[in-house]
Amino acid sequence: MKKVFFALIVLAVAGCARQHNSSLEEKVESTLSRMTLEEKVAMTHAQSKFSSAGVPRLGIPELWHTDGPHGIRPEVLWDDWDQAGWTNDSCTAFPALINLAATWNREMSALYGDCIGQEARYRKKDILLGPGVNICRTPLGGRTFEYMGEDPYLASALVVPYVKGVQQNGVAACVKHFAVNNQEMRRTATNSVVDDRTMYEIYLPAFKAAVQEGGAWAIMGSYNLWNGEFNCHNHRLLNDILKGEWGFDGVVISDWGGCREDDAAITGGLDIEMGTWTNGLRGAASNGYDEYHLANPYLERLRDGRATEEVLNDKVRRILRTVYRTSMSETPHYGSFTSPEHFQAARDIAADGIVLLKNDGALPLNPSKGSKVLLIGENAYKMMVVGGGSSNLKTKYEVIPLDALREAFDGKADVVWERGYVGDTTTVYNRVVTGQVLKDSRSPEKLLQDAVSAAKEADYVIYIGGLNKSFYQDNEGTDRFDITLPYCQNELIDALAEVTPNLIVVNISGSPVAMPWAGKVNAIVQAWYGGSESGHALADVLTGKVNPSGKLPFTMPLATADGPLKSPRQYPGVQEEGKEWWQEYYTEGIFVGYRWYDTNGIAVQYPFGHGLSYTSFEISDARVKKSGKGFKVSATLINTGERAGAEVVQLYIRDSEASVERPSKELKGFEKVYLEPGESRRLEFSIDPDALSFFDADAHRWVAEPGEFHALLGTSSADIRADIPFML
Ligand code: GLC
Repeated sequence: MKKVFFALIVLAVAGCARQHNSSLEEKVESTLSRMTLEEKVAMTHAQSKFSSAGVPRLGIPELWHTDGPHGIRPEVLWDDWDQAGWTNDSCTAFPALINLAATWNREMSALYGDCIGQEARYRKKDILLGPGVNICRTPLGGRTFEYMGEDPYLASALVVPYVKGVQQNGVAACVKHFAVNNQEMRRTATNSVVDDRTMYEIYLPAFKAAVQEGGAWAIMGSYNLWNGEFNCHNHRLLNDILKGEWGFDGVVISDWGGCREDDAAITGGLDIEMGTWTNGLRGAASNGYDEYHLANPYLERLRDGRATEEVLNDKVRRILRTVYRTSMSETPHYGSFTSPEHFQAARDIAADGIVLLKNDGALPLNPSKGSKVLLIGENAYKMMVVGGGSSNLKTKYEVIPLDALREAFDGKADVVWERGYVGDTTTVYNRVVTGQVLKDSRSPEKLLQDAVSAAKEADYVIYIGGLNKSFYQDNEGTDRFDITLPYCQNELIDALAEVTPNLIVVNISGSPVAMPWAGKVNAIVQAWYGGSESGHALADVLTGKVNPSGKLPFTMPLATADGPLKSPRQYPGVQEEGKEWWQEYYTEGIFVGYRWYDTNGIAVQYPFGHGLSYTSFEISDARVKKSGKGFKVSATLINTGERAGAEVVQLYIRDSEASVERPSKELKGFEKVYLEPGESRRLEFSIDPDALSFFDADAHRWVAEPGEFHALLGTSSADIRADIPFML
């Protein structure tokens, strides 16, 4: 009797779920059937800088899009990039996504997505233009700070909770920039020539995970071309792979100005055209938005038979589905904005991703009473939330390291600051201002001299420098030319190391930098653009209030030239006879990041996955056993130190008998574990055949070849604590 009852319950629940989905599709079909041709076409393109039309006659609201991945962009005027000057739209600035990636923490990613989703919903935005998950192919990439590092497994694991977190608030995550948009230089004029195996193993996985596991409701096409077609209407990428193979039922939005042609825009898989340059409302006789590719030109083609209403209906179904999932969701969402919880979340996420690269004992810092702590470097003071491109934010406040450390050592030590160098004195972007005054009339020599003199008088010296959001650094639209620190910082650090026995260096950046002075300093911390609470997060780690547990989401190379991109054909691309666009050949294939350095035995400054703690951990009793079609890899992690802390146990797989070239190791699992001193935890990872496979482009399928594999367990890609062979 019980079984029958249980079965009835299951059937009823399944029926409800189907009913719910079918109610979504029924609503879509019902509305679609009542729309005119003009109303349908109006929905497929922008009506303003950040909105696309609804159906006023039927009470279907317009869709409001907003940047960005790190927080909700301030309101702009109807047809402008600059902020409109509202007084109620200063947001919580969350850490840059590279900072989230460095947490290697799925729970932090879920928290992040939920908080930013609440802020978007409260600001009545339906589509969040983020997260970005383009793989860090070159350390020079200008938007590395906005993405999730060099490994597809790490990016896939962290994009899923973020997307779910955003969407549980009735806001669509718009995962970007699809795809192989791995640089900023000439991003609208470069054709990425990439073979299928490289695409499927490296550049597609994070987007596929966002769609199939995260259930992403929106995808943003990228500016560049892939194999000859612009990605905002790349038929193979959007229709065959995204909507075909992956079953994506959401909406494809162009990057702003990424839609380039009339006909391809219709048939190439694009659903909403945003940002096309038509001199907007200013220069055009009528509404510039009517000149969009999917506006009047589309109407003409529908009326003269060159375009079919069937294709139009598919676009409109996807757009209506997005409306019913967001602003017209059956479950009302109201969100919240700049709450204490959001700022605390920003602080916790930022701290959880700060990476302790080196520590010969100077950290954590516990200055004796009455001592003097000297901070040196522009990044101890410069606010970083403003700038960097479309992820620029107007935030309620931003705590800088200088203020946070003064707060932390209040009543104990005197904290003073020396500029050390003058980098970027910009304090405004899109009319958002920081209010800081960064001008300094001293010469570089004087600045260095003053810093060195002050260092001689101080008890503790912390250098806080790195990069910033200006052009040719961590900035949308430009790439760096080298990973060398700018503004002669290396010379300054060398000079300080001469007079400071226990120099602590904090590098604040969103991308890798060369650290030639690493051997001369006592401790090195990799901090990121941590958002509103960045100063507090850094102080929490430096003082030991938080035990650092971040891990590098990308390799920190010794030099740019050590990387896999050896020729302009690979990066930044070349012009070729008879070809309109720049051509960039991804001939390094799957050998990106540690897959390149580790496989070729190339020394690096700090490896992918590296990060120290104020305590210590051991991995023991590692085993592999058969489990169904796959395997279970297990091991025990023990906190062997004196204080609580977290370790990220990483599982890499090596295929030692492959018929094709494969990397020496590939990340296929990780777990971040918080343990008390002496506490241990038994961990278990599942390895299915997919995790052992490579992509066979000819057969167009994943292949796991029988033979010997190795399970490598470690605390970084280079610090392997257990290597267990097993047979498939
Ligand atoms: C920009 C960026 C994209 C952003 C969009 C709207 O060009 O590439 O990430 O969301 O335009 O600002």
